[in-house]
Amino acid sequence: MLDLVTVILAAGKGTRMKSKLPKVLHKVAGKSMLQHVLDAAKKAGAKRNVVVVGFGGEQVKTAIGNEAEFVVQEEQLGTGHAVKQAAPLLASENGTVMVLCGDTPLVNADLITKLYEGHKSAGAKATVLTAMMPDATGYGRIIRTAAGDVARIVEQKDANEEELKVKEVNSGIYCFEARDLFAALEKVGCDNAQGEYYLPDVLAILREQGEKIWAVATDDYESTLGINSRVQLAGAEKILRHRKNIELMDNGVTLMDPDSTFVDADVEVGPDTVLYPYTWLEGKTVIGSDCEIGPNCRFTNVSIGNNVTAQFAYGHDCVVDDGVDFGPYVHLRPNTHLGKNVHIGNFVEVKNSNIGEGTKLPHLQYIGDSDVGSHVNCGCGTVTANYDGKSKFRTTIGDDAFVGCHTTLVAPVTVGEGAYIGAGSVITKDIPAKDLAIGRAHQKNISGWADKRKN
Ligand code: UD1
Ligand code: CA
Repeated sequence: MLDLVTVILAAGKGTRMKSKLPKVLHKVAGKSMLQHVLDAAKKAGAKRNVVVVGFGGEQVKTAIGNEAEFVVQEEQLGTGHAVKQAAPLLASENGTVMVLCGDTPLVNADLITKLYEGHKSAGAKATVLTAMMPDATGYGRIIRTAAGDVARIVEQKDANEEELKVKEVNSGIYCFEARDLFAALEKVGCDNAQGEYYLPDVLAILREQGEKIWAVATDDYESTLGINSRVQLAGAEKILRHRKNIELMDNGVTLMDPDSTFVDADVEVGPDTVLYPYTWLEGKTVIGSDCEIGPNCRFTNVSIGNNVTAQFAYGHDCVVDDGVDFGPYVHLRPNTHLGKNVHIGNFVEVKNSNIGEGTKLPHLQYIGDSDVGSHVNCGCGTVTANYDGKSKFRTTIGDDAFVGCHTTLVAPVTVGEGAYIGAGSVITKDIPAKDLAIGRAHQKNISGWADKRKN
C-alpha cells in the first residue's frame, strides 16, 4: 500500500458527450470510465480514494458503491473548485494527494506508480504527468521556461497561437503535497476564457511562491487520453480491446481473428482456449482452459469450466461446468447451472434451472425453473410449462429418466428416477420412479376411411 490518497474528478456533465448519462459512467471495454480509473488507483496501492461527484451524483455513487469515498460539488465551477470540495475529507492528510480525472480510462497502475515515484524522488510540491500528444487539441499545454522547467499550464481556450503549437499536454493527472494543494487552491481565480477555477493554475501559484514544481513525462500518450466526445470514446474502446486481446494471447489464448473478438477488461480466459470470430465476452465472465468458444457467442457474467465447446450461443449470469458442449442457437438465461459433460444441441433455451451431469438436451427444448438430474435424456421438443399466467412453478426430473419427444411437463410436477415418458405426452401428475407414463389420447385407426370420404 502506498502513502497515497487519490481524488478522482467526476462531477462534470460531459456536455460534449450529448448524453443524459454522466460522462464518467459511459463504458469502455464493458466498464465505466470512472471504474477503470478507480481500479487503476487501487491496483497501484492507493490507501484512500475520494470521488468528486456532481452532475448525476446519485447515479455515480450507486454505480461505484462502497468502493470509494464521495464528496459533492454542487455547481461545476471548474477542476480547481472540484478538488477543493475534497478538503474537508482530506484536511488531516499531510502526505501526497494524486488528482485523477474520471474521463481518462486508459490510465493504468504502472503510470500511477511512475508519477508517484517521480514526484517523491523530485521532492516537489506539485508534479504533473505530461505526454506528447499527436493531436493536442482540447488539452492544456505545458509551457516550459527556457531552462526547461514547467512554468505553467495554459488551457486550449486561453492559449495564443504560439502556445497552441505545443504538443506536450497536461494529462489531467497530478501529484500534490496535500497542505500546499489546498492552500494554493484558495488563491485560484476564474479570470479566464471559461470563467472556471482551473486546477492547473495551482502549479503556477506554487512556482511563484518559490516551491518546486515538477513534470513526469510519459511516452505512452495513449494511456493519458482524455475522453470528451463519443468519437474519443470509440477510440479508447479500440485501444483497450486491443490491449486486452494482446494480454490474452500473451497468456496462451488463441484468437482466430483479434479484430472480431471483443473481450471486456475484467474477463479471464484460460490457456489453450480458442476464441473464434464474433465472440463477445462481457462483464465478469470467466472461461477455463482448452475450450472452443464461438463463432458467434456472447457471454455476459458467465462462468465456464475447462474443455467446453460452444457455438452460436448467448448466455448470461449462469455457470457451465467442465466438458459441456452447447450450440448452435442456444440461450442460457440467468441462474442456470449446467453440470459436467452436459450436451445441449440446437434451438434450446434453459432458464433458472440445474441440469445434472451428462444430461442431454439435444434439440428444440425449453427448460425453465427445473431441476434435472444426471444422465437424463430429453427428447426433441421437451417443454416445461412453468407459468400459469400468474406464478412460476418448478419441474423436477430424477436421474436417468427418459423423456419422450414432444413432452409437455406441466409444473409443478416430478418425474421419478429412471422413469420413462411416452412421446407426445402432457404430464400433469407426478411419475413414480421407474414407471412409464403415457399422457396422450389413444390412437384409433378407422379402416378404409379415405375411400369412404371420396365416395
Ligand atoms: C482538463 C484540464 C486540461 C487537461 C485535460 C486532460 C483543466 C482546467 N483542464 O481539461 O489541462 O489537458 O483535462 O484530459 O483542468 N470536473 C469536475 N468538476 C468541474 C469540472 C470538471 O469534477 O467543475 C471533472 C470532469 O468530470 C472530468 C474532469 O474533471 O472528469 C476534467 O474535466 P473536463 O471538463 O473534461 O476538462 P478538460 O477540458 O478535458
Ligand atoms: Ca476531459
